Amino acid sequence: MRVDRVSDPSALPAESVVVATYLSGEDLPDSLRQLANAVGIHDLEDARSRGELTGSLYTVTLFRGRPSLLLVGLSRRRDFSDVRWRRAVEAGVRYVSRRGFSHVSVAIPPDLQSRRFSEAAVGAVVAGCYQEQLCKTEDLEVSSVQGMSLLTQDDSADLNGALMLAESTSVARDLVNLPPSDLTPTALGERARSMAAEAGLRVEVLGRDGIQALGMGAMLGVAKGSGEPPALIRLECGDVASDTRLTFVGKGLTFDSGGLSLKTAEGMEWMKGDMGGAAAVLGAMRALGLLKPEGILVRGLIGAVENLPGPHAMKPGDVLRTKNGKTIEVLNTDAEGRLVLSDVLSHALELGATHLVDLATLTGAAVVALGTEAAALVGRPQSWVDEVGDAAAAAMERAWQLPLYPEFRRRIRSDIADMKNTGGRAGGGGVLTAAALLSEFVDGVPWAHLDIAGTAFVESSNGYSAIGGTGYGVATLVELARRLAANAAERINPL
Ligand code: BES
Ligand code: MN
Ligand code: ZN
Repeated sequence: MRVDRVSDPSALPAESVVVATYLSGEDLPDSLRQLANAVGIHDLEDARSRGELTGSLYTVTLFRGRPSLLLVGLSRRRDFSDVRWRRAVEAGVRYVSRRGFSHVSVAIPPDLQSRRFSEAAVGAVVAGCYQEQLCKTEDLEVSSVQGMSLLTQDDSADLNGALMLAESTSVARDLVNLPPSDLTPTALGERARSMAAEAGLRVEVLGRDGIQALGMGAMLGVAKGSGEPPALIRLECGDVASDTRLTFVGKGLTFDSGGLSLKTAEGMEWMKGDMGGAAAVLGAMRALGLLKPEGILVRGLIGAVENLPGPHAMKPGDVLRTKNGKTIEVLNTDAEGRLVLSDVLSHALELGATHLVDLATLTGAAVVALGTEAAALVGRPQSWVDEVGDAAAAAMERAWQLPLYPEFRRRIRSDIADMKNTGGRAGGGGVLTAAALLSEFVDGVPWAHLDIAGTAFVESSNGYSAIGGTGYGVATLVELARRLAANAAERINPL
């Protein structure tokens, strides 16, 4: 994909299409009329009087011309959000990318012209062209788009940086979409290796023996039920001597059957996506390897495991010894993500993390609480949770904080071990009983947890994106790293 900026619409290639958004219940803005005039399209009002341009959310109307113009409805002004605008652009690009256009331009509305919206538009175009049909041999809907332009007067954006971020998000989406028997923990490790070579990252992948040597009894407990060995993946970039060591931890369940606490058939349908956290970490590390933020160390750690009910599977009632010595009674083998994360978080601390973020498709309760609109955000101290929340908002990914009251720690008290791996159904708050367990493994280090069970993949049509992996979290993590790098530079070079 090529990307450039154009300030005059009459300079656009004739075979291209311009994607523009508009609000319902209002006159078409002058800027849109001017744009239509500039590209020689004069039937906007006719279409409006025929009732074609209602502006309902994500509906598209194509005006053929040289270039063509695609209008995407954004519904009412009072419901406007940056997230919604980005999705509308994605929906529009998805539509035109399957209709033979080789070049797409995005018209940034006058009141939104800024670096942030330009970079978001690049992400939306790449997302709209994303090919999710990795295994199809026929009926392929191949995107014809080869290049994009942003129609804006603002020239502050780093368009190539945005492109690297967007392509890294596509990498994360691919990983989620791969069939689970193709993307085993070992295969994920191999992909991490080749990605590291491509993006200039340091990498280390440990198999079962290495994980055993580290004493990760909880992660190994989860791995026992599968014939596939687990993998512990470490990716790194930046300054090893820095006193800012930002560490991302990703849940990498390449498949979660539930183990002996077996899921229903329906509950398992999307469990190839239970490595969405790992995918986000890999995608973010790829982008950071290419973007090279200075002055900080960034580390990505992934616990990759398959959760199956094989003959050696851990059993409800088993007690696992984690890396930091604490013991966990397993009451439900389907609460496996927190077991894996407990060990990987301990490892992150041992490696010297100063700032921690973990991403995990951890609980169905996160989907109950927030649906597919937002990830659940938890952590401490509040100042760090705010930094992560602000980075997510800036990246146009929704994260909504839930409170980690100390009372949730009582819910996972065990009679025979230091804690148990579920808080039980009675009492609710499943996101927070899970987070309470994680919090036992992050002593003293600022830590934020994103439960992305509802946002990592799309199960049924949402009107703007492809079914499957979303790449949620990649943009947030990259934004966060850039902010920390900027802070570090400020400390070294006070103005
Ligand atoms: N991977 C699942 C959570 C999940 C559910 C992710 C739906 C994405 C979509 C996780 O390992 C799990 O099974 N959690 C259990 C925990 C319970 C047994 C305490 C759940 O949420 O039901
Ligand atoms: Mn599970
Ligand atoms: Zn899981």
